[in-house]
Amino acid sequence: MAEQKATNIKWHHGKITKEDRAKLLNQKGATIWLTGLSGSGKSTIAVELERALIENNHQAYILDGDNIRHGLNKNLGFSPEDRTENIRRIGEVAKLFTDANIITIAAFVSPYRDDRQNVRKLLDNGEFIEIYVKCSLEVCETRDTKGLYKKARAGEVKDFTGISAPYEEPLRPEITIDSSKLSVEESTRFILNYLEANGYVAF
Ligand code: ADX
Repeated sequence: MAEQKATNIKWHHGKITKEDRAKLLNQKGATIWLTGLSGSGKSTIAVELERALIENNHQAYILDGDNIRHGLNKNLGFSPEDRTENIRRIGEVAKLFTDANIITIAAFVSPYRDDRQNVRKLLDNGEFIEIYVKCSLEVCETRDTKGLYKKARAGEVKDFTGISAPYEEPLRPEITIDSSKLSVEESTRFILNYLEANGYVAF
């Protein structure tokens, strides 16, 4: 965990509660955390889920690994320490979005169990929905949508998850989606059903 450097700071409370925000948007904010190998389908599912939620009058926003690494986390690489810091910062951002009562869809490889667990701890009970987008290395490598597996095998990309860096599967995710068996539409429907059944949204 990052150390607290600043001193002489104090927390300022607003006058609006989570319940006020929930009433305004007619939903309960949460972070939907998609974890899985590169090429497992996290971003594709995130895009479809966001579209479906917004089409049904729910406020949603995607935080995506490739995108966030262009800005907020442009100074981070893929060493274990940098990945931990990547997920720590995203966790803090997701906490803010969730506090603003938005259905926050985070799509990050997030290969380390402890890093994901730390995000869960940052959020209130029920606000962290871990979704394991399960797909074998073999299938991800066959898809190789970005050509990165080929480069990793050739040694041109180092610390590549699944090839030269570990991926720690979630032990008790709220949802597991086998993206080699389910279509994007089926995966999205599955998540939407979970959100509705657990009172986050109403269609
Ligand atoms: S994480 O491990 O820190 O959670 P993140 O989700 O932000 O990773 O970024 C992963 C994306 O960066 C992958 O989808 C892939 O396109 C790209 N990438 C580039 N280098 C690597 C690498 N060494 N390992 C994994 N992904 C990489």
